Amino acid sequence: MKIKHYTPSTSNLAYSVGVTLDRFIKMKQDDFPYASGELSQLLRDIALASKIVNRETNRAGLSNIGGAFGNTNVQGEEQQKLDVIANIRFTRAMTKGGEVCAVVSEEDDEVIDLQNKSGKYVVAIDPLDGSSNIDVNISIGTIFSIYRRVTPIGSPIQAEDIMQPGNQQVAAGYVLYGSSTMMVYTTGNGVNGFTYEPSLGEFFLSHPDMCAPKDGKIYSINEGAFNFFEPGLKNYLEVCKNRTYSARYIGSLVADFHRNLLKGGIYIYPSTSKAPHGKLRLLYEANALAFIAEQAGGKATDGTQRIMDILPQSLHQRTPLYIGSMKMVDEVEGILKVHRTLV
Ligand code: AHG
Ligand code: MN
Ligand code: MN
Repeated sequence: MKIKHYTPSTSNLAYSVGVTLDRFIKMKQDDFPYASGELSQLLRDIALASKIVNRETNRAGLSNIGGAFGNTNVQGEEQQKLDVIANIRFTRAMTKGGEVCAVVSEEDDEVIDLQNKSGKYVVAIDPLDGSSNIDVNISIGTIFSIYRRVTPIGSPIQAEDIMQPGNQQVAAGYVLYGSSTMMVYTTGNGVNGFTYEPSLGEFFLSHPDMCAPKDGKIYSINEGAFNFFEPGLKNYLEVCKNRTYSARYIGSLVADFHRNLLKGGIYIYPSTSKAPHGKLRLLYEANALAFIAEQAGGKATDGTQRIMDILPQSLHQRTPLYIGSMKMVDEVEGILKVHRTLV
């Protein structure tokens, strides 16, 4: 019998489809010889749930899952049906996987104990971000942070397992349901982006080793609240206008963040005289994106302090957020500081 060694075909007739998310996760796991594979499995569980949410998001205009659910969440915000559906999908996927012991979700007032005795991870999640955009067919997202529990595996969940600062994240990511669906994540060793191929039902590596431009010309902020901004921020916005920067604001944090990550820019959701802590939530919005921003060479602060060093005091705590290209965040921080010391 003759045996021939396989050599990859270079034929144009069958181009390579690339690296799937599953294979990429496996390759990365192999870099850590003592890794037990649970984090990898958890990332795959999240990816699977995101495919289901993607399917349901795509059908939202056709089926009866658009619009309000008729309930308000702990933030006092009206829940959309897809908020509820996405929360169930992600929580169920994590329950079945068995790697997660507890979940903090925007849509649940309390910590959910998944009753997984061997679960060593805690997940904070915004199952559907930008949900007011669902009914108008505009990009939405999912944001997640993964922590290792600090108390012994199998014992009752404690506050210290949940209230960890962002600098303790072992992984974080987001899914963007946009003109295409993407998953972007980090495990603290750079940032990689994957684009969903619906006909194959797989995410493929499309944006390896993502880097945030050091500077940019896009600013993203809801300027409707301008009258309630502090003087330093008003001043910074004048600077942006004098330089004819582009104002871009989708109103879905994931989508605004993603664009600025690729193109260079800053996203700001500030404190205002009406909302001194801003709007966005530390545990399941700001921390994950801060981890990704830093891993891509960008920066994330609350105007003075690094987001990932804030010690959470409550589950649904809010924080102002300045995030994006390093130079832009540095500049606005400098201007805020000057104005704050004048007061
Ligand atoms: P969510 O849909 O999870 O409640 O988040 C909405 C957030 C965020 O995605 C977006 O950037 C911001 O709210 C928009 O708020 P404004 O309408 O106040 O600008
Ligand atoms: Mn959100
Ligand atoms: Mn949400």
